[in-house]
Amino acid sequence: MRADQTLVQFLREEKRLTGTHIGCDTVSCGACTVLLNGQAVKSCSVLAVQCDGARVDTVEGLCDQELSPLQQAFRECFAVQCGFCTPGFLMTACELMRTVKPKSRQELAVQLAGNYCRCTGYQPILDAIGRVLALPSPSR
Ligand code: FES
Ligand code: FES
Repeated sequence: MRADQTLVQFLREEKRLTGTHIGCDTVSCGACTVLLNGQAVKSCSVLAVQCDGARVDTVEGLCDQELSPLQQAFRECFAVQCGFCTPGFLMTACELMRTVKPKSRQELAVQLAGNYCRCTGYQPILDAIGRVLALPSPSR
């Protein structure tokens, strides 16, 4: 591990966990989101050495043989297009489902503001996470 290596670089280059993506590399897009001791962090913003001894959860841990309910909802709601943003959204959603538990679609959208998607227009992603959170469906 290099002293200047970010957590996302370490995961991808040394652990070969390439599910965590590097988008902007400037702490904006959220593609690199992982859970660090249960808290969603943008792993391009953290040095790997700062994580020594910490628990790091990546998208690879979400499913074993089968998709998790959250991943299944993404598939069924067409919340994945190119998929570049998807691991980051999934990990952010994991934390939200455990902690904040948004009560409305609007609240959910605010909580997801740190994750960008260039493809879906966001609505299918809100549909998918909203389904798992049992939020009321939007009237369209
Ligand atoms: S790559 Fe980390 S926030 Fe975009
Ligand atoms: S699905 Fe392509 S950036 Fe989100």
